[in-house]
Amino acid sequence: MSENTLILGLQWGDEGKGKIVDALSNDIHAVCRFQGGHNAGHTIKVNGEQTVLHLIPSGILHPNINCVIGNGVVLSLEALSKEINKLKDTGISFNNRFHISSGCCLILPTHIRIDQVRDKKESIGTTGRGIGPAYEDKIARRAIRFGDFENEDLLNDKLSKLVNYHNKVLDRMYDEEPIPVDSVIDEILSFKHLYDDYCNDTQDLLFNWVNEKKSILFEGAQGTLLDIDQGTYPFVTSSSTTAGGVSTGLGIGPKYIDKVIGITKAYTTRVGEGPFMTELFDEDGKMLAKKGHEFGATTGRPRRCGWLDLVALKKAVFTNSVTDLCLTKLDVLDGFKNISVCVDYKNNEPVYKIFDGWDDKTEGVTEYDDLTDNAKSYINFIENFVGCNITIVSTGPSRDQTITRES
Ligand code: IMP
Repeated sequence: MSENTLILGLQWGDEGKGKIVDALSNDIHAVCRFQGGHNAGHTIKVNGEQTVLHLIPSGILHPNINCVIGNGVVLSLEALSKEINKLKDTGISFNNRFHISSGCCLILPTHIRIDQVRDKKESIGTTGRGIGPAYEDKIARRAIRFGDFENEDLLNDKLSKLVNYHNKVLDRMYDEEPIPVDSVIDEILSFKHLYDDYCNDTQDLLFNWVNEKKSILFEGAQGTLLDIDQGTYPFVTSSSTTAGGVSTGLGIGPKYIDKVIGITKAYTTRVGEGPFMTELFDEDGKMLAKKGHEFGATTGRPRRCGWLDLVALKKAVFTNSVTDLCLTKLDVLDGFKNISVCVDYKNNEPVYKIFDGWDDKTEGVTEYDDLTDNAKSYINFIENFVGCNITIVSTGPSRDQTITRES
């Protein structure tokens, strides 16, 4: 039976979505991205080889899966081209299975420059990829869309207007060097082959696949707490990272999402600035960072680490209509004497329930029954608190280091 599944992060991103998308890809016809851009970084380990994907859906590693970049994504053609070439070099084929919506708004070099100079002053700790400024132009109805390649004269015209505008912002607001309009136009036009090869009516493709009862996987980027509306505003990304973003970012109604798998780490991390109730500044925090290799996949920045925040997680489960929870990096908690989870906030401080740690390793365990009792108690407590079953537990970075349980 066909089933369309949404996989998204319930925290501030980096929950390990890539591995889960990859693991669930076997019976899937298409994997679709619906928001964000190359600010995302999905690290996947297959056959011992580590691959980081920023823009292209993780399904690309499976030869028979279609991959879609929906209209809700902001597209850097330079980043896209690099990523395609890198994957092609490893023998991956894109022919007839990689589709980009004509509605995607483009990220221009001037967006990137504005993002970087602005973040120096306003310091949200963005990835510096031009994401925020590109979405600003989208909402302001002046963005260049991928489909604009259809008419080169019009594209030139729109580009020069927009880049001139960006240059005024750079010059007058930030006292920064402008970027020559011609160089931007030349750069964008040099990627016309991407339009020729991959631009498509992706809503039409989805319509057909739904009618043919093909299974589709919607792949979220970033996480719920970075959502422009539901996240820790203004310390958020500029897109709808939550379940609602699927419908707007791909043009598919919510009733076609059958299952929502929400991914959470067994603890919490955050890259960039902004509130983080359970952040740790002690040895436990350092140990989480070290054992969990908590460095940003896109920027290499160290991630801030802390205990699991069940208050925030419960809200994220509600926001996204999560049907199944997936707990990742449980093995990182191996060796901790005590493990805390936040169950309330009082006077702006987290209130913790403290668990005993476990002596036996969870690393690499593939059967739920083989988990140590203390780890099971931890899992049960989370399930009961947020009111949702944990049906997948990840116990290591490789595909096979995964426990699956009945829904
Ligand atoms: P932007 O998306 O580059 O505008 O950055 C806005 C905020 O979202 C910053 O705090 C980033 O660190 C964070 N962010 C963006 N993408 C990711 C991601 O894939 N994982 C974790 N944090 C992210």
